[in-house]
Amino acid sequence: MCGIVGYLGEKDSKQILLDGLKELEYRGYDSAGITILQNGNFSIYKSVGKLHNLIEKSRDFKVDGFSVGIGHTRWATHGKPTETNAHPHTGEMVHVVHNGIIENYQELKKELLEKGYSFYSQTDTEVIVHLFEENSKYCKSYLESFQKTISQLHGAYALLLLNRDESNRIYFAKEGSPLIIGTDTETGEQFFASSDAPLIGYVDSVIYLQDGEWGYVEQGKIYLYDKDGKEVEPKFSPLSKDRASAQKDGYRYFMEKEIYEQSQVISDTLMGRVVDSGIEFDEIEPSLFDGIDEVKLCGCGTSYHTALASMYLFERIAKIRVSVEFGSEFRYREPLLTKNILFIPISQSGETADTLASLKMAKEAGLKTLAVCNVDNSSIVRLSDKAILTRAGIEKGVASTKAFATQMVVLYMLALYIAQIRNNISQEELDNHLHILREIPNATIVQPRLHEKIKRLSKRYLHGHGFFFIGRDIFYPLALEGALKLKEISYLHAEGYPAGEMKHGPIALADPELFTIALLPENVLYEKTKSNIEELGARDSTICVISPKPFELADDFIQTSHHKHYILEFFEMMVVVQLLSMEVAIRLGNDVDMPRNLAKSVTVE
Ligand code: AGP
Repeated sequence: MCGIVGYLGEKDSKQILLDGLKELEYRGYDSAGITILQNGNFSIYKSVGKLHNLIEKSRDFKVDGFSVGIGHTRWATHGKPTETNAHPHTGEMVHVVHNGIIENYQELKKELLEKGYSFYSQTDTEVIVHLFEENSKYCKSYLESFQKTISQLHGAYALLLLNRDESNRIYFAKEGSPLIIGTDTETGEQFFASSDAPLIGYVDSVIYLQDGEWGYVEQGKIYLYDKDGKEVEPKFSPLSKDRASAQKDGYRYFMEKEIYEQSQVISDTLMGRVVDSGIEFDEIEPSLFDGIDEVKLCGCGTSYHTALASMYLFERIAKIRVSVEFGSEFRYREPLLTKNILFIPISQSGETADTLASLKMAKEAGLKTLAVCNVDNSSIVRLSDKAILTRAGIEKGVASTKAFATQMVVLYMLALYIAQIRNNISQEELDNHLHILREIPNATIVQPRLHEKIKRLSKRYLHGHGFFFIGRDIFYPLALEGALKLKEISYLHAEGYPAGEMKHGPIALADPELFTIALLPENVLYEKTKSNIEELGARDSTICVISPKPFELADDFIQTSHHKHYILEFFEMMVVVQLLSMEVAIRLGNDVDMPRNLAKSVTVE
C-alpha cells in the first residue's frame, strides 16, 4: 500500500528519500516519486513501476546543502498506475504526497474546477494541492490555509505538503492513516515516514502522530496542533537504531528468512508468558474477562485464518463461545453487539482499514477490546483497551508467515489464560498444554531434509487447473492459509476446503490436473480425513499428502514428524505449506516478497 517519506536537513535529501522508499517497497506499490525544494525551486521525479526506474530518472540530479523533500510509493486506488497519477501532486506553488482516501474529493474537485483550476491526474490527492492554493488567496498565513485545507477534507489521510514560498518547512497532517515524525536530536534534521522502517538508523526518537494532529517542521523544531488548532506538546518515543533485522541475511527472499525465523520469534512470544504452572500476560488483568461470555475474533486475510483456527482452541480449551468475523463484512452488517462480548481484532500491521473500522464499531457499541497485533503503537493497538503484542519482529514479505505463527501462539496462550482464570482446566491438562507450548519452537525449526524434499517436489506443481488444500478441524483454517499463501505468490488458483465438504460439490472438479494438498495429522480425525482423501484419489485427483504416517495411495508424500499432540502437528504443517508455496513461486520466477497487485499493509477498504 502507499508509503510516505519526508526529509528536512543538510544531508543528501534525494538519497535519503530514495533509501526511505526502498524500505517501504515491501508494502507493495506501482509507481513512485520524489520532490525536493531548495530556495524556492522544485525538482520533481516520478516513474511507473519499480523504484529502480525512479533512481535511474533522478540519477543526474544532485542536492547541495539544506533542502526539504517528500517522497511516495503509490498503490493505485483512484486512477491507473501512470506517471501523472503518481505522487507528488503539483500545483503552481505546492507539492503534496498523500496516503489514504479523500472521500469528498468529487465535490471539492467540482468547486475547484468552477473556480478555474485545472486537474491533470485522476487522483483524489490533487484536490489538496488546489485547495491549499485557493485558500492561500484569502487566509492571513500559509499556516492558516493549511489548517483550512485539512478541515475541508473528509476521509483518511496522512499527508506532507511543500510550499514554494517556504523552502525551510514541511507541513503535515494525519487522520486515519499512519504518519510518524522522526528527529535526530543532535542535528535537528526532521524525517517523516508512514511506518518505522525508513527511520531506523537515522533517528533516535519518533512521534507517532494521533488522528487529527497536524502542523509543520523546521530545522530542529516541530509545531504540532490538534483538531481544534490548539498547540500540543509532542510526545517522543525512542526508536532502535538496529538495521540488521531488516536485512535478508543471506536468504533468497525475506519470506524465506521469515519462515526460518519462526522458531525464534515463537520463543520470543512465549517468553515471560509461559511460566512454571500457567500463563501470564503483563498486558492484561483477569478482570478484563469479567462479565464476558463471548469472544469475537476479527481480522482479514491471514489474520482471519488465525481467528478461525483459534475458534477451535477457545471453545475446546477455554469453553467460551466464539464468533469469527471478516473485518470487511462485520463493519457493514449491523451486527448485534452486547456488552458480554470481548472484541479481539487480530492484525499483523495494526493498520488494516477494515479491521480498524470494525474495532471502532465495537468500541462505539461499548464492547471491551483486546488487540492481538505485531506493531506497537499502530492504530489498532492504540485504539484497543488492551493489546498483546506478537513479537514477530518486522515482517517484510507480503505473504505473512511469522506473523501468523506468533498470532496463533498468542491466541493459544490466551485460550489457556481464560481457562485458567475461570477454572475450566485441570492443572494436569494445563501442564500438558504448557509442555506443548514449549515444544512449538522445536516443531517449527525448518529441517533441511524437509525443505530439500519440498524444493524438489515443487516442480510437479507449476501447472494444472487448480489446487485444493484440505483438512479437518483446526487443519481446515490451516488449509485456507496454505491456499492463500500459494495464490498470493504463485498466482495459481487455490482453494482451502474442509476435507469433509469436498463431496458436497468440489469433488466434481476432480481429475489428474486438480492437485489436492491434503493435511493429514495423526492426532485428530485421522481416519475421517484419510477417507476424504481416498474419495478424491478414487476420482483421479493428483494428491500430495502431508502426514507423519505414510499414505500409500498418495501421488506425492511429505512426511512430517510424529508428535504427541495435534497442535504441534499444526505448527509443523504450517511450515510445510509455507515452504511449498514459496518454492512453487520461486520456480515460476515470481517476486516472492512483492507479489503483483498486493500490499503489505492494506490501509484502504
Ligand atoms: C497475508 O499473507 C496477506 N498478505 C494478507 O491477507 C494479510 O494477512 C491481511 O491483509 C491482513 O493484514 P493484517 O494482519 O496486517 O491486518
